[in-house]
Amino acid sequence: MKICCLGAGYVGGPTMAMIAAKCPDIEVNVVDPNEARIAEWNSDTLPIYEPGLDELVRGSRGKNLFFSTDVDGGIRKADIIFVSVGTPTKKQGIGAGRAADLKYVESAARRIAAIAEGPKIIVEKSTIPVKTAEAIITILRANSKSGQFDVLSNPEFLAEGTAVEDLTCPDRVLIGGEQTPSGLAAIEKLVSVYARWVPRERILTTNLWSSELSKLVANAFLAQRISSINSISALCEATGADVDEVANAIGKDSRIGPKFLKASVGFGGSCFQKDILNLAYLCGHFGLPEVSAYWESVVKINDWQKHRFAARIVRELFNTITGKRIAVLGFAFKKDTNDTRETAAIAVCQDLLAEGAEVVVYDPKVREQEILTDVLGSAKNPNLKIAKSAEEAAAGAHAIAILTEWDAFKTIDYAKLHEGMPKPACIFDGRNILPHRELRKIGFRVFPIGKASGQDG
Ligand SMILES: NC(=O)c1ccc[n+]([C@@H]2O[C@H](COP(=O)([O-])OP(=O)(O)OC[C@H]3O[C@@H](n4cnc5c(N)ncnc54)[C@H](O)[C@@H]3O)[C@@H](O)[C@H]2O)c1
Repeated sequence: MKICCLGAGYVGGPTMAMIAAKCPDIEVNVVDPNEARIAEWNSDTLPIYEPGLDELVRGSRGKNLFFSTDVDGGIRKADIIFVSVGTPTKKQGIGAGRAADLKYVESAARRIAAIAEGPKIIVEKSTIPVKTAEAIITILRANSKSGQFDVLSNPEFLAEGTAVEDLTCPDRVLIGGEQTPSGLAAIEKLVSVYARWVPRERILTTNLWSSELSKLVANAFLAQRISSINSISALCEATGADVDEVANAIGKDSRIGPKFLKASVGFGGSCFQKDILNLAYLCGHFGLPEVSAYWESVVKINDWQKHRFAARIVRELFNTITGKRIAVLGFAFKKDTNDTRETAAIAVCQDLLAEGAEVVVYDPKVREQEILTDVLGSAKNPNLKIAKSAEEAAAGAHAIAILTEWDAFKTIDYAKLHEGMPKPACIFDGRNILPHRELRKIGFRVFPIGKASGQDG
């Protein structure tokens, strides 16, 4: 069996590396027209940072795992073709700002139709709106002279930062397909790949639409929990309740559970916002405006939380930060990834710059240019600077803002940082990861999320 994956991104690269590792008899070709990205996959510095990924790729690369720009060649020889291309939010036209832009999915489908000879199984790995498979099937069948296609939905549930762990031991693998003899046979073929390492009871098979929709709904539910606890964090700050204590207390209820109840500066990442907006758009499209508004409010609370965090910095620094240096520690949207898409740090930095602050960012894994482009686009602003260490960022800063929960930030010598900062020196812990009581003993004014400013965390 030969597998091809269109798209060598955060999903295509790791998922295919896992299949190659678990199925040494299957040839896996990951193809992408992005030459720089493919060159990095073939080098010692992979384009994405994930714990355990280097070892995983090194184990199979050149044996049964290949990265190439030869998209047509990959399609031609494959039995199963995964489509793992981006599905960003549309920037213009109908549904702009909400609907998913399916141009990459459509062009992948057209390429497959043009090149493929003989029967192929096409697997939607990208997150797409429900009913997209219908469009893909129509394009494939209308444009192919000889091909015979089955389209499956197999959404990916990995989380960046724990991708290798999630792929090794997934909570579930979801495979949806047409409930026809040919569709059911295609489902079984894909099941047989995952069944090499995933227990059979964790491989769920459904119809196409349930599978497509489940991915959007899973992300909506996860993000909803974060927005729910973040909304409560504001009430905690106002009342003297402690959001971590509240989260712990409610999480002990087995009907609620403890996960995804950590208050923070706001969720980021390429998926949550885009998928909820897409879900909201779909609800509107299907005549359900109330459902649409309900889900959209999850994104609204998240935006509000990011701006609320920046506004708190301004307020606590005596209502002006013009000309004041602020050290931003962490830019990635979460720890253990270099991905900055939709990271809360973008909005916070932009708000601080708009107030005239000098913003100095340090992140252990994100490249300098990435930060500058994310915050400023093509504009220039000398007030945004990048530091090579937390110490460099904090030197002379009125405040430190923790925006990513990198473990390394917990072991910084904050007493030393304090010495080099104007007084009173402040810490805004946007992830609630630091020992607040000890920081107060050093002399910092500490402002965690969801705790009144005098409270210890
Ligand atoms: N990043 C995540 O954590 C995550 C998790 C689950 C699902 N998803 C979904 O998976 C999909 C991919 O996400 P990603 O983060 O890997 O995106 P990405 O932007 O990192 O990678 C997409 C890649 O597809 C390539 N591409 C575009 N058109 C192509 C074509 N016709 N043929 C071959 N390659 C092509 C691009 O060059 C790019 O390298 C999205 O739909 C996303 O919503 C992402």
